[in-house]
Amino acid sequence: MTLADSALELLRTRKSPKVFDLTSPGPDEAEIDSMLAIASRVPDHGKLAPWRFIVFQGEARGRAGDAIAAVFLTDNPQAEPERVALEQGRLTRAPLVIAVVSKAAPHVKIPEWEQTLSGAAACTLLLLAAHAQGYAATWLTEWYAYDARVRAALGLSESERIIGFVHIGTLVRPQEDRPRPALADLITRY
Ligand SMILES: Cc1cc2nc3c(=O)[nH]c(=O)nc-3n(C[C@H](O)[C@H](O)[C@H](O)COP(=O)(O)O)c2cc1C
Repeated sequence: MTLADSALELLRTRKSPKVFDLTSPGPDEAEIDSMLAIASRVPDHGKLAPWRFIVFQGEARGRAGDAIAAVFLTDNPQAEPERVALEQGRLTRAPLVIAVVSKAAPHVKIPEWEQTLSGAAACTLLLLAAHAQGYAATWLTEWYAYDARVRAALGLSESERIIGFVHIGTLVRPQEDRPRPALADLITRY
């Protein structure tokens, strides 16, 4: 198989696993650096690097979960302990979670929208980099990506937004693909 063949195979086969089907081992430090270097190699109008990454591994995932659960409990003081435990465990479902954070901000020349798109592209490349290194990865936001109190607890500034929590690990079992849109429905020839 040529390099091009294996690259095409990789691109054709990427899919998101169910987050509960991710397990250890996760990537090691060198693999994480490699994935983040790939994710950073993204089109970026104005070379602003309007995104950054937060790495959650080991016990840090539980500490972040404490912050998520605390916010959940504030809003749902009557919640059952099992439900609070579920919130606390949000980031412990995979051995590695990387938050892709958008730093998009008003700029004299580069539309904020384009900065956001560059961050989303970085997120996609991170999924592909994980897949290429033999792991599986799922892009999730869930409710806590959109909660300002959780964002502050995770160290984001007021203007930063979470593009996604990319959950990365080893597959427990093979995943069925989902139905994909028919190409003909997506394409208009002008
Ligand atoms: C911005 C963004 C946020 C997402 N957030 C969630 C989420 O919170 N929960 C979820 O089940 N899927 C979420 N997804 C969808 C999954 O990441 C995934 O795309 C979907 O399960 C389809 O899998 P595929 O990547 O194999 O097409 C999100 C996707 C995007 C692009």
